[in-house]
Amino acid sequence: MEIEEIEVKDLDPQVFVEQKIAEIASLVGSGLAVNALSGGVDSSTVTMLGHKALGERLKTYFIDHGLMREGEPKKIVALFNEIGVPVEIVDAKAAFFDALKGVGDPEEKREAITQAFYKDVFGELVKESGATHLLQGTNYTDIEETVAGVKRQHNILEQLGIDPEKEYGYKVIEPLIRLRKPAVREVAKALGLSEEIHNRPPFPGPALAARVIGEVTWERVETVRKATGIVEEELSNTGAFQYLAILHEDMVTGVRSGKRDYGFQVEVRCWDSQDAKTGSPTRLPYEILERLAERITTEVPGVVSVTYNITKKPPSTIEAV
Ligand code: XMP
Repeated sequence: MEIEEIEVKDLDPQVFVEQKIAEIASLVGSGLAVNALSGGVDSSTVTMLGHKALGERLKTYFIDHGLMREGEPKKIVALFNEIGVPVEIVDAKAAFFDALKGVGDPEEKREAITQAFYKDVFGELVKESGATHLLQGTNYTDIEETVAGVKRQHNILEQLGIDPEKEYGYKVIEPLIRLRKPAVREVAKALGLSEEIHNRPPFPGPALAARVIGEVTWERVETVRKATGIVEEELSNTGAFQYLAILHEDMVTGVRSGKRDYGFQVEVRCWDSQDAKTGSPTRLPYEILERLAERITTEVPGVVSVTYNITKKPPSTIEAV
């Protein structure tokens, strides 16, 4: 890979912040930039860098594609408004769910999200706003996994031979491209972002679509969204790297009140990891696993089976899609 990583031990977060602010200001010049905030540590860090570099010449959008956790759009926008960063919510649910209709293959799903995001939604926003640049939080691990062919990360363009200027009409600036997550967290801290943001567990760009096996429909996302809420409530104090719920495509026979109940299967994953490159399942106490099964099968309509993934990455990956 041509891009060289800056490791945490070699990073001076304050100096990095100053350099990136100067670089963004010089690249954008007198133009306008846009960026999408999801509330993850990467996009939050980029939002702050862009805000400090460009002030009102940065327009930050929260793209509500309907694939987020419960209540997420409002919560994140409020958090940023509190620190003086204006963010506009864009309702893009229809564009994303239309693009995902009938798509079951994981890589095709990622491609559909990329197209909906960059072309349909951002293409339009950029046109409307007259922006010349898009700021985004691509990190070193995203590039590495895409180049290695593990997964097509939704935010990778140039490494796949896509010229965003030719294809979508704007230039992309990626200030975090030489950093992995732990280094991004240091930069976020240096920018004064709260613990809630700089310490957030990772969440994938394709959001809950990365956790629905098979077709992504509104109903299926609702199922995984409810299960995700329970998993996060139960596992947030474990100190694990990441924990998630996956909705399987196959249905299985269950029994409820003495009657056959053909229903959904949810898989819980909880990872110990440093940088998401490799990972091991957390050795959760059995009582927690039992509580997860109990809550998911009673609180999430239609679920009759809950399993826990006991496979390491590799050969598993953190997300299922
Ligand atoms: P995998 O599933 O590849 O995930 O083992 C590694 C880490 O990356 C996150 N992830 C993504 N992040 N865009 C992102 O910004 C993506 O397309 C994407 N896919 C996976 C995942 O949550 C884990 O932390």
